[in-house]
Parts: sequence; C-alpha cells; structure tokens
Amino acid sequence: MTYQGLIHRYRLYLDLPAHAHTISLLEGDTPLIPMPRLGREFGCDLFVKFEGLNPTGSFKDRGMTAAISEAVGRGAKTIICASTGNTAASAAAYAARAGLRSIVLIPEGKVAVGKLAGAIAYGAEVIQIQGSFDDALSLVVEITQKTPIALVNSINPYRIEGQKTASFEICDVLSSAPDWLCLPVGNAGNITSYWAGFKQYQKGLPRVLGVQAEGAAPLVLGHPVEKPETIATAIRIGKPARGEQALEAAHESDGRIIAVSDAQILDAQCILASEGVWVEPASAAGLAGLMAETAKGSLDAKGKTVVVVCTGHGMKDPSIITESFQAPKVIPANYEALLDVIGE
Ligand code: F0G
Repeated sequence: MTYQGLIHRYRLYLDLPAHAHTISLLEGDTPLIPMPRLGREFGCDLFVKFEGLNPTGSFKDRGMTAAISEAVGRGAKTIICASTGNTAASAAAYAARAGLRSIVLIPEGKVAVGKLAGAIAYGAEVIQIQGSFDDALSLVVEITQKTPIALVNSINPYRIEGQKTASFEICDVLSSAPDWLCLPVGNAGNITSYWAGFKQYQKGLPRVLGVQAEGAAPLVLGHPVEKPETIATAIRIGKPARGEQALEAAHESDGRIIAVSDAQILDAQCILASEGVWVEPASAAGLAGLMAETAKGSLDAKGKTVVVVCTGHGMKDPSIITESFQAPKVIPANYEALLDVIGE
C-alpha cells in the first residue's frame, strides 16, 4: 500500500486524541543506512537512521505531524515554538499545510541558514530573541499559558508521540531493537521519545548513549548552563525541558549521557560524509560519542548492532562547510587546462 505518513502507519501505537485531524507531509519511513566501512572499524553492525530525509530535513517532522494534527483538530488558529532552527522550519511547514499562522522564536544570530530559510519559505513569522533558546522557550511557554496560541515544542506530549515512531521503524527493519542507540541530546525530547517508543514496541531495548556538546552539557554537568556555546547550534541548549526524562532513559537502559567537543563533532561529521552521509554538525554527535566511548574502552561495540541517529541533513547548515573550505580552483575553459589540473 502507498505510504500515507507515520500517523496512518502507526496510529494504534500513538496516544492521540479522537479530535486529531491528520496533517501530514508523508514524514517518517526514513532509511536505516548500513555503514559497512565504518562498522568494520568498531567491529559492529553499524547503521545510520538518517532523519535528514524527512520532508523538512530533520526528525522534527515526526513530532510535528502529531502536534499540528492535534492543534488543528481542537480548532487552534496559531501555533508557536522556540527553536534552534529545525523545529521552526518543521512547525512552519506543517502550519502552512494546515493553513495556520505560525510564529517562531529563535536565538539571535545562532540559527543555521538552511533552517532560517526554511522557516521563512514556509511562511513563519520569525522573531529573533536577544537571548538563548532557553530564554525563547520560557517566553513561548508564558504566552501559550495566557493566550489561545498552541505550543508545539516538545513539551507538547503529542510531539513525543509522533517521535516514538522512529524507534518503531528501527525495530521493524532490524526485527528487534539494536544493542546500542547513539543520538544527540539538546532539549531532550528525542531521547525521551525513542526510549518511550522502544519500551512500548516490545521488540527489545537498546542501551542508549545520549550525546551533548561540551559547551552545552547540562545533563553531564548536573546543572543548567547559563550561556551554552557550541558549533552544533541545534543542541546549543542549557536547560533541557525534558532533562529528567533523558537521564531516566540513560539510567533505565544501562546507557549514559556524555559530552563531546566541537572538534570531535566536526570530525564525526567528516567521517559520515566520507561514507556518503552528509549531516548537520549536531547530527554527528551520536557518532562522535560512539567514537569517544570506544576509544576510551568504556563501550565495547564488537559484535553488536549499533544505530546512530542522524537527526538533520547537512544542507541545513552549509556554512559550516563553505566557511572553512578552500574555494574550488578556477581554470580556463579548455581541455588542456582541465587535463593539467586533473593530472591523469
Ligand atoms: N539534532 C538536531 C538536528 C536538532 O535540531 C535537535 C534539536 C536535536 C538534535 C536535539 O533534539 O532537543 O529533542 O534533544 N533541535 C531543537 C530545535 C531544539 O529547535 O530545532 P532534542
């Protein structure tokens, strides 16, 4: 049967109210890409769950189809979110699809260009906050408590419902849960969703490795970070809304939450691209974490099945590549010059 989106496919597993009116862009059903070369280095069966192939280029579409479907069904006319960029683009797209007004609050100057462009293209009213994501989140929480505007951040329980489907898909492809699941952690909605999904689906449980950026690692430090800083702007978050649940997921699964440096994140981004998978920096954090832990000998991946979740597409943040690369060579438009430069 043709694919009709994740609410349609997994409706029986999703706790959505009867009034929900499905708004879908056929999100989900993303590939679980085998990474044989890289896997050999760890001695494991390694897969990338490539969430960058969702309609707006990130995993946020899974939660957004659910949150917007519920909001539309109860008659909401306007939705709002705080975002480091991907939620903004996703919320804007699903709101556009449903004919709703969308407002997104982003930290000034800290959102990658592909995300900002997306939010604008889909017609969101974009407001920059002179502050962090965490400040923006407090503001949207306050305004949605005082007005009928619907909140679509992952505090919204339907976001979690939709995002659970990624773990269902992994189990459907592998026939059971992997041994390890490695993923980036920002506001901690996604790790919460995966864990809830695996528990519900009853196809086994993975150990969960949640990975934060060193400059934005409240769950590793054990306290909020007032001024989070990292090149991985998607996870530049100092007070994760679902921090407690993220720690629970790590604890219950006999996994952990660790921090990696920006250099380790960029290195992992290069390694993924060298096997044909270009992801945005934050999305490489899962692999960076796996590499760091195996190098230290504190995670033995040998003989295991490991899934690294790559949450957003590389095209979301092209500047990270274009600002540091050497401009391509320029040659005269003739054959000799081409042969000369290629050197074969
Ligand atoms: N990876 C990417 C690419 C993200 O955009 C985010 C979060 C995460 C990982 C972390 O997920 O917050 O559920 O722990 N981005 C949010 C946003 C904050 O506004 O787009 P999380």
